[in-house]
Amino acid sequence: MFTLAHLSDPHLAPLPAPRLVELLSKRITGYINWQRRRRFIHDPAVLAKIVADIKAQAPDHIAVTGDLCNIALEEEFVRGLKWLQELGSLRDVSLIPGNHDAYVRQAVRYAPQWAPYMSGDDGAVGFPYLRRRGPLALIGLSTAVSTPPFMATGRLGAPQLTRLSETLAALAHEKLFRVVLIHHPPVSQAKRHKRLTDAAEFLRVIGAYGADLVLHGHDHLHILNWLSGPNGVRVPAVGVPSASAAWGTSKDAAAYNLYAIDGGPDAWNCEIISRGIGAAGTVMQQRRRKILG
Ligand SMILES: [Fe+2]
Ligand SMILES: [Fe+2]
Repeated sequence: MFTLAHLSDPHLAPLPAPRLVELLSKRITGYINWQRRRRFIHDPAVLAKIVADIKAQAPDHIAVTGDLCNIALEEEFVRGLKWLQELGSLRDVSLIPGNHDAYVRQAVRYAPQWAPYMSGDDGAVGFPYLRRRGPLALIGLSTAVSTPPFMATGRLGAPQLTRLSETLAALAHEKLFRVVLIHHPPVSQAKRHKRLTDAAEFLRVIGAYGADLVLHGHDHLHILNWLSGPNGVRVPAVGVPSASAAWGTSKDAAAYNLYAIDGGPDAWNCEIISRGIGAAGTVMQQRRRKILG
């Protein structure tokens, strides 16, 4: 039995005080949005409880699907690294970026400090990366692109999709349990300006080469969709709420998923255990559901 924990969108708070020069960009709209609305949603005390509960469950690995930042200030990357280090070691934590980690184009200058959490077993930096852990092959993608104000779209791009196809095809022979990490949901009910622009191409790759599990964040909701894999196989695509979302806001309250995976090639068993914050402010098991096997 291998246990994988998945959390997403911690949107680390409080927001560091920006310098005026840092606000002369799309950040100004994000900063106003933070002050008016988002700072009441993303609660560091809630996130601390979620992280403590994950550690208490002692999973074999932790996947984090992006949006550590809010407006991609340099100081947010410094705090993000500290948070990652407290979450777990480079061996035990796999990260991919979200759109808030690429909120403005200059954020690419700060992202390299997170690179060790986003690189493959071969040490190469870039997407997709590939990490093997127990029976799992973790494939990390990036949909994080900077966009104009009020846009939160994501994009994989043709080169990354081609490499994803090659990686999935090669792994099919290794008989590993292939987990694809992607920030934006491949299927979403969100408004068009918040979606993955090349979702159709991603779904075609999964349709052609398959995967065993797709994990995402971004919509800040519990989501389960079934994607079409090759030969009629169905691939679960599962999203989690923001790991810092306070109880009683418009989206789902903070939660994470544990995946209990066992069995073997062509006969995998996978169960989702959702644990999240309740109205009383404590983290508890909310749902247990077998999705494979
Ligand atoms: Fe987010
Ligand atoms: Fe996002």
